[in-house]
Amino acid sequence: MLEVSGNRQTHFGFDSVSEADKARRVRGVFDAVASKYDLMNDLMSFGLHRAWKAYTVAVAKLRPGERVLDLAGGTGDLAGAFARQVGASGLVLHTDINEAMLRQGRDRLLDEGLLLPTLICDAESLPLPDASFDLVSVAFGLRNMTHKEQALAEMARVLRPGGRLLVLEFSKVAAPLARAYDWYSFNVLPRLGQWVAGDGDSYRYLAESIRIHPDQAALKAMMKDAGFGHVDVHNLAAGIVALHVGVKC
Ligand SMILES: C[S@@+](CC[C@H](N)C(=O)[O-])C[C@H]1O[C@@H](n2cnc3c(N)ncnc32)[C@H](O)[C@@H]1O
Repeated sequence: MLEVSGNRQTHFGFDSVSEADKARRVRGVFDAVASKYDLMNDLMSFGLHRAWKAYTVAVAKLRPGERVLDLAGGTGDLAGAFARQVGASGLVLHTDINEAMLRQGRDRLLDEGLLLPTLICDAESLPLPDASFDLVSVAFGLRNMTHKEQALAEMARVLRPGGRLLVLEFSKVAAPLARAYDWYSFNVLPRLGQWVAGDGDSYRYLAESIRIHPDQAALKAMMKDAGFGHVDVHNLAAGIVALHVGVKC
């Protein structure tokens, strides 16, 4: 993190901005894309995000009655799938810092016949008791958080001992694919975002934020520091995405 004369600086994509400005800009990105978020996910990833999430749900191996916290849950893909696994005796709390994303998700889940408890909250400061969940998930959300160590510490705090954290996030792609992936990210994504969502800048931010996010090994180390004694890393699509699974010890 950069520190500039008492005003703490951080990254928003490739730009250096104040921490307050980053939070404001991230909110702006998701306010702008909320209504087209699901369509854009399918287009940008050629539908692959569905497979990455299905894999995450399979790894979660939730049992009926378990308690799950989905952070940065957005339009609710994981929260909905988890709710079907834990059943009526379990709990899935669908949360996000952004009201527009959460509303979009809540409406979609209702259309699918699922009514989940919903909470607007910042993953860096959770208004939830210690050791109250069996599993915490965060899909494509950690990258957008300003204080990632603080967010990971909060995730560890609300998990019971032995509880699992699932972090699904863009990561470092295998070297042979890097050039093609860069070309796609910086040429196609912003144009697609402009065309479909009327907002190329938000998708330029997406491409940039992926490049400065900790890679597989760095995120694993951060999770260990936060109190996850055992962390497994599952590379998906040659590392375009990685699922980190941490066990709180
Ligand atoms: C790319 S979306 C992911 C949504 C969903 N999890 C998915 O996989 O489709 C990222 C989400 O992170 C949320 N977010 C960003 N910063 C956050 C924070 N500090 N606390 C909670 N959510 C945050 C955004 O509002 C946005 O909905």
